[in-house]
Amino acid sequence: MTANTPVQGGPGHVAIIMDGNGRWAQKRGRPRLFGHQAGAKRVREIVRACPGLGVRYLTIFAFSTENWKRTQAEVSGLMTLFRRYIQREAQALLGEGVRVRFIGDRNRLDAKLVDLMDELETLTAGNDSVNLTIALNYGGRDEVARATKRLAQEVAAGRLDPETVDETTLARFLDTYVLPDPDLVIRTSGEARISNFLLWQSAYAEYEFTPVLWPDFTKDIFADIIGRYAGRERRFGAVLG
Ligand code: FPP
Repeated sequence: MTANTPVQGGPGHVAIIMDGNGRWAQKRGRPRLFGHQAGAKRVREIVRACPGLGVRYLTIFAFSTENWKRTQAEVSGLMTLFRRYIQREAQALLGEGVRVRFIGDRNRLDAKLVDLMDELETLTAGNDSVNLTIALNYGGRDEVARATKRLAQEVAAGRLDPETVDETTLARFLDTYVLPDPDLVIRTSGEARISNFLLWQSAYAEYEFTPVLWPDFTKDIFADIIGRYAGRERRFGAVLG
């Protein structure tokens, strides 16, 4: 399997927990931010590999609601990296047909970063070869709580009848309301946890945990995982005949 072989029965939506940047840098005696910079280069490579592999939706976990607990230096270094990524990559993403969206709570993010995020979403809104969603200040529980708050406000305002609320209603209030659910969730660096990522949306996803650290995660490794997924059978709780 190479990164240019479209995969029959492959996952349309892949979500990735990009873990291991810090350890990758540490192994080289370098600061953690060096690992995040190397990680950003892999993001480029993996996004570019998507069309060739038939992946229409890619959702990546860039910064979690828990990541604020890291040192101030690391947090501000990551925020600078996100700003630069948007500034440097915007034209390339536009030209490559990538539509970018952000999910997560923007309230705690720096105003300049939020402006850049809004601009990139608007700039790429006409694209649809790959839908790249970047989770920034995102937490699955936080997302469900924010959705529930807005749903409750609709009920309180008399615009929503609580008797009609079902799974589809709640899903409409989630950050991901325009996205299909992920088919495959990949986590790098050997940790077998989902760490609050797309909790609601991944109810029927397949999971793949790889020991590879994110900065070492090449498009060929990505292609292999996608090829393996295509060989699995998904039942969605039903018994297939
Ligand atoms: C986890 O590695 C990684 C992050 C918290 C940040 C993810 C960010 C990037 C890949 C940078 C670029 C992203 C974009 C969208 C440009 P870790 O620091 O937890 O690694 P460790 O577990 O080895 O410490």
